[in-house]
Amino acid sequence: MPARNLNTLIADAARKLEAVGIESGAAEAEYILCELLDFDRLHLYLHGPSLIDDDLIERFDAVVTKRLTRYPLQYILGVAWFFGRKFIVNEAVMVPTPETELLLDSLLRAARRCRSHPVSVLDVGVGSGVLSVSAALENPELDITALDISEAALGVARQNAERLEAVERIGFIQSDLFAGLKPGQQFDIIASNPPYIADGEYAGLPPEVKADPRISLLGGPKGMDIIDRLIKEGPEYLKRPGYLMFEIGYDQAEDVFASVQADSHYVDCTLLKDLNDIDRVIIGRVE
Ligand SMILES: C[S@@+](CC[C@H](N)C(=O)[O-])C[C@H]1O[C@@H](n2cnc3c(N)ncnc32)[C@H](O)[C@@H]1O
Repeated sequence: MPARNLNTLIADAARKLEAVGIESGAAEAEYILCELLDFDRLHLYLHGPSLIDDDLIERFDAVVTKRLTRYPLQYILGVAWFFGRKFIVNEAVMVPTPETELLLDSLLRAARRCRSHPVSVLDVGVGSGVLSVSAALENPELDITALDISEAALGVARQNAERLEAVERIGFIQSDLFAGLKPGQQFDIIASNPPYIADGEYAGLPPEVKADPRISLLGGPKGMDIIDRLIKEGPEYLKRPGYLMFEIGYDQAEDVFASVQADSHYVDCTLLKDLNDIDRVIIGRVE
């Protein structure tokens, strides 16, 4: 058997990962080694070759073997990257997706247009905390309230806020949408990445997505249950002017846009496309 070095480790793992339907096997293998060595890709190739020992190979093989079952790599490693920062994740929270960076970008842009000091933000469905923690760290002017119906998710979000030193800036509430807020509480911006997958689509989802908590994915028969509530109930919790913004599924833009436009609370409505040219974020403004 040939000696295992950096290149053969990556090539062998890539072949196995791709055989079970994982598209970017080599990139995942590199990423696993980067996480195990706490290196970026450049350092992996500069310094990695001299650090391949039996212990590292054993740990690498264990991760790859588990990944071959299509269990999400982020849960195996216990971490996920979002907007250049590393977040702790586990099965209590959805693995954050790059699309949500568009929602963060929209939030930060809207905050710059708000007149309040500080700008108050409500994150509905905080999950691992990626949106709230990133927003707090990107803009020190934000006063953030983060809620989730899941106590376990709130625990992970708080842990991430503590590790990334944003915990002083975020208030955490366990709540079914707006139900747990104080009467009259209002925000400049309400942002959410809600569960928006139609129940009937669940069976066809990739195994990696099915590993996410169901409550973070499923939005009822058309995927619109939580979205409809955000549109209908949101204005009561928004200052004037204020912004409701949330992520939507690949095929929901038309219906959601029509719902926001039909609601007289909203004076305008904007759709934003993600990097794959799919309508991904909708913003409704109230005056
Ligand atoms: C799609 S995940 C988003 C998590 C995180 N914001 C992100 O972007 O990675 C949706 C989150 O909404 C929460 N959620 C689902 N239904 C809810 C409800 N009725 N009230 C509050 N949170 C809810 C879930 O527990 C989950 O954490």
